[in-house]
Amino acid sequence: MLAYTRQGCGAPLVLVHGFPLDHTTWEPLLPYLTPHFDVILPDLSGFGDSAALETAPDMEAYAAALVGLLDALQLPQSFVAGHSMGGYVSLAFARCYGQRLLGLGLIATQALPDIPERKASRYATAAQVAEQGAVVVADAMSTKLSANPAHAPILRNLILRQSPIGIIAALKAMAERPDLTPLLSSFTFPVAIVHGLADDLIPPDRSREMKTIISHAHFAEIPGIGHMPMMEAPQAAAGALKGLLAPGLPKDGR
Ligand code: MLT
Repeated sequence: MLAYTRQGCGAPLVLVHGFPLDHTTWEPLLPYLTPHFDVILPDLSGFGDSAALETAPDMEAYAAALVGLLDALQLPQSFVAGHSMGGYVSLAFARCYGQRLLGLGLIATQALPDIPERKASRYATAAQVAEQGAVVVADAMSTKLSANPAHAPILRNLILRQSPIGIIAALKAMAERPDLTPLLSSFTFPVAIVHGLADDLIPPDRSREMKTIISHAHFAEIPGIGHMPMMEAPQAAAGALKGLLAPGLPKDGR
């Protein structure tokens, strides 16, 4: 079973971390969310204290491990919110286990797949990580994740704690993820979309495109914030997720 921590009271909300990080990235949100939600913070397979995937890596395998955790916790339905790669996993969750969703949060993420160049660079990075370890992605990413330079050493240490096996699996899963844009128009549950306007890793346009399709989604763009809204602007990010509890309705009123 996935490693996790749990805190708070209310409707269950699973927060799915991004690459190559772990559940601790969500901790700044807890004071704002725990009065409203039963917050569950898993480590994705191969990250933090969770064992690596035993199957070929794809987003559905990460989502299946989340479902295993929710089964073990006897939670038939929950809100799920994902950051970046966690968003890719959350979208796979919506595709495979949509009936288990109370609502979906999409933070600094996208429904589009990798362009061929990005896919090739993921495989090149995976090969380098196999030789040199997590330091490869720590060097490449730790200064780009947050617009706040004070976060860089914290993120670097966090990345260095992750296992190369977990990092390599996630790189392959991200490279092979399908285009889930066609899925978005089927969402009838509450959705919250959050993006920092200074995100250097995933352009804010990716969230705008999702909002155009999911017209009932709560949508928050946060000026001056990079790829880590939960660390850089926790109150604003939590405020957007609280919107899941006061949903707008899809246009046809379902
Ligand atoms: C993440 O933050 O999870 C990743 O940077 C996402 C990606 O590389 O596509």
